[in-house]
Amino acid sequence: MVTENVELDIEVIAGDGERAIAGAPSTDALAQVETEYLGKRAALTRAHRSLGGLDPAARKEAGQRINEVQAQLKAALASRRAELAEAERAAALRADRLDLTEVIPAQVLSSPARGHLHLVSQARAQLEDVFVGMGFTVAEGPEAESDWYNFEALNMPPAHPARDTFDTIYLDIGEPETVLLRTHTSPVQIHLMEQAVRDDSLPIHAVMPGKCFRLDTPDARHLPVFNQIEGLVVDRGVGFGDLAGTIQVFTEAYFGPGMQSRLRPAYFPFTEPSAEFEITCTLCLGEGCRTCSHTGWIELGGCGMVDPAVFAAVGIDPTEWSGFAFGFGIDRLAQMRHAIPDMRSFLENDIRFLSQF
Ligand code: PHE
Repeated sequence: MVTENVELDIEVIAGDGERAIAGAPSTDALAQVETEYLGKRAALTRAHRSLGGLDPAARKEAGQRINEVQAQLKAALASRRAELAEAERAAALRADRLDLTEVIPAQVLSSPARGHLHLVSQARAQLEDVFVGMGFTVAEGPEAESDWYNFEALNMPPAHPARDTFDTIYLDIGEPETVLLRTHTSPVQIHLMEQAVRDDSLPIHAVMPGKCFRLDTPDARHLPVFNQIEGLVVDRGVGFGDLAGTIQVFTEAYFGPGMQSRLRPAYFPFTEPSAEFEITCTLCLGEGCRTCSHTGWIELGGCGMVDPAVFAAVGIDPTEWSGFAFGFGIDRLAQMRHAIPDMRSFLENDIRFLSQF
């Protein structure tokens, strides 16, 4: 009875084992099959141990059969393992293959994300467009200037108190004359007038954008390096009304219809009379708010009629020619137009800020 059962069990296990080995889908699965059929707790191992209860002949016969089945299963395992290992190696090689044309679509390669101009550069380009539309040309001048261009020709002789408000960075380049980083774009006026006198090419209708430098501590409304745009008209019969009209036309062209400008008396050494010009507060549209100190107006820049002392410095006859000039900060303008709380954001290079404009 017992013997018959043992024999029956051995044959069933042999058949099941062969099928499990042939059907194992991976080397990992095969390792489990091995434990199950040949491990310490496997049915065959246990059967081997329980042979003690049989008579010697039956024990020998069953023992031999168990050894045969074990050897047979081991051989099947070895060949199935080799087969699976080879298939797995081939699959891993296929998966590791680097096919760039397949992984990265050709479209992505040919169109990388594009950036755009900085907000201040955009503002400068728009200002140039507006003034060119009004008949001005665009001119540029050097950022490092001599004392003559930045101060003296603009009616600020040495020790003039107005120089204090333009405290700046002086360059020691071993020149006999003083060289400094320009504190405003007004020196470009001098270059243009000198040029026009040399070429006998008056009148002048020009705007001059560019970088300026002052020893200002950076704060919400000041940067030590900033941008201005200067305007200069020198022509016959030019009056203060032309200046006021030009500023009003510009204000509406840049900020939109309905925006007003106004002039308030001020002082600049290079213009006489001089004015500060203000525009309708861009935040409250004239209602009055914290930004405009409840006046409804915000100051944009300075302007005035070209001082006769400036004409004298460049050799223009003030009985034949007259002119006006104006100047204002481009960064400040962009800050107002977009209601940016802190001007330092322009220089921090935070892409989350820059990409909004
Ligand atoms: N250059 C002056 C400044 O930077 C502004 C200004 C320009 C004033 C032209 C009058 C005429 O403050």
